[in-house]
Amino acid sequence: MKWSARFSLLTDLRQAFQTALFPTFLAVVRSPLLLLHPHAISEIFMSHVWVMMSAAVDEGGKQVKENLITPHAYGVVFDIGAGHGHTVKYLDPTKVTKYIALEPNALMHRQIRKNAALAGFTESADTLLILPYGAEATAQILRSLGPEPQCVDTLISILTICSFPMEPEPDDVLAALVASVLKPGGQFLFYEHVANPQAEVRWWQRFWTPLWSMTCGGCRLDRDTPAIVKGMGIREEGQESGMWRECKMWGKEGEDVDSLFWHSVGRAVKA
Ligand SMILES: C[S@@+](CC[C@H](N)C(=O)[O-])C[C@H]1O[C@@H](n2cnc3c(N)ncnc32)[C@H](O)[C@@H]1O
Repeated sequence: MKWSARFSLLTDLRQAFQTALFPTFLAVVRSPLLLLHPHAISEIFMSHVWVMMSAAVDEGGKQVKENLITPHAYGVVFDIGAGHGHTVKYLDPTKVTKYIALEPNALMHRQIRKNAALAGFTESADTLLILPYGAEATAQILRSLGPEPQCVDTLISILTICSFPMEPEPDDVLAALVASVLKPGGQFLFYEHVANPQAEVRWWQRFWTPLWSMTCGGCRLDRDTPAIVKGMGIREEGQESGMWRECKMWGKEGEDVDSLFWHSVGRAVKA
């Protein structure tokens, strides 16, 4: 593994601190009670980091998203960890009827509304719903979706499963979400940075994860999302077990094999 790759994220870390530290400090000075709520401080910090990073991150994944989301997403779309709602601009409005943005960080909601409106999805027309929960809050999510469970045609996760907390287990969180909100025959589309298949790179991902995770809202560099999705299983003919009817995963073209931000892309159809 190249030395430059081992320390490649130091630039991102420096930029994140330069951008977010001062405004976060100011927020704490204005509301000292925040000190009792470290999670709220982390959300403020991440909201500033994301203002600085999100456009470049979106641009870096543009081609993948154009190939994954635009041709496949249809019907009611549920975006897990919507951030600023960048996913919405990849949706084809002639095929998508509603955009549901799940985003626990309320400081991101204004930007979701703005991006969704630009793409033609609004709360007033009932084509936009913003849910202020984490993916693990299955009961609240289900309550907000209304009387018909499994009403989602397309479940999307873009760079979010890495931020699922360690508890409950991310495998259980994703399985519960797919089981409860996605229609049978509905699809799950994902583009995630994941654990690198090379043991040495994975070691460095684990090394940096505590600091990176503190800086970027709990994001883990070493999350093995392909294993999580694969572990949900393919349902064989005549069997009850296995979540997917089909499941395909692939990598991001042209990626450096030493990358700490190694990506995986996938499309799975619910049995
Ligand atoms: C790296 S950002 C990606 C945002 C967006 N998907 C995009 O591609 O621009 C990760 C997002 O996941 C959200 N998030 C963090 N923990 C989450 C959880 N447990 N469930 C759902 N979303 C979560 C964060 O607030 C953040 O907006």
